[in-house]
Amino acid sequence: MSANITTADNSSPCIYTFPMYKQQGLDLAKALNLPCYDISIHHFPDKESMVTLPKEKSNHIILYLSLDYPNNKLIELLLTSKTLRQQGCKRITLIAPYLGYMRQDMSFHSGEVISQQIIGQWLSELVDDVITVDPHLHRINSLDAVIPNTNNQTVSACPNLGKFVKTLNKKTYLLGPDEESLQWVKQVAEISGASYSVATKQRHSDTLVDIQIPEYDYKNQHIILIDDVISTGHTVAQAAIKLYSAGAKQVDVLVTHALFAKDAMDILLNANIKNVWSSDSISHKTNSISLTNLLADSIKKIT
Ligand code: R5P
Repeated sequence: MSANITTADNSSPCIYTFPMYKQQGLDLAKALNLPCYDISIHHFPDKESMVTLPKEKSNHIILYLSLDYPNNKLIELLLTSKTLRQQGCKRITLIAPYLGYMRQDMSFHSGEVISQQIIGQWLSELVDDVITVDPHLHRINSLDAVIPNTNNQTVSACPNLGKFVKTLNKKTYLLGPDEESLQWVKQVAEISGASYSVATKQRHSDTLVDIQIPEYDYKNQHIILIDDVISTGHTVAQAAIKLYSAGAKQVDVLVTHALFAKDAMDILLNANIKNVWSSDSISHKTNSISLTNLLADSIKKIT
């Protein structure tokens, strides 16, 4: 069905935003001076998705859809992309500031499927470009190895996190809660001018982690924990508990992807964490840092 194509030969890109990401899509459209239209989603009682696309068309459509809580969204992306192709859209760019399904990059136990590869391959069949922010890649360094034959762009939120720390105008010490966080905390420290270090972590299960903080005089210090993702909240909560035991005056958290599964916010509050700031890669009440400028630069590179 292509009856509702209104401007199929329009080569100027337009942005389609999914529910939950309307504000971020509008901000990006404003920064790039592009039109922005809403995709609407209806969920039937059994949670099946019905997608309604805007009537305005373009040969290049930029979809703004962060893939947190991804299962429904992936189906909605499938329905959207297939329909756009049927309608003659030549290029589909996916902006997914948070890219779900990146954790399972190998089979840790017999029978476990490698979901990263399967979802990556699937995305490559749906869209032409993928723009994402600090993807959670461990043993595989490049997004190109995960999403083949697609123009992939990885944006780092760290410049904006670093500027945010600078605006606090306070003496702070930055701590990454595990070895993997060194890449983020180092960049944020370089931009903000704060000192930094990283802790070590042993994860025993989804909700059980042990953190060892490095030697430092934490007494009366204001510490900001920096991480890429907060999911259950146990990583930063355990780090905060250790920091307060070592005499810290205040512990805050600055995170890129505010997943906040289940009662994560309560877990942070119970650990006496005072402020939680996040980028708007995932819509959440802690959003304090816009990624619009970084995503706009990335779009400019590919258009
Ligand atoms: C781990 O590799 C990540 O950087 C985060 O530290 C982790 O995903 C946080 O998970 P949670 O909030 O469930 O402890």
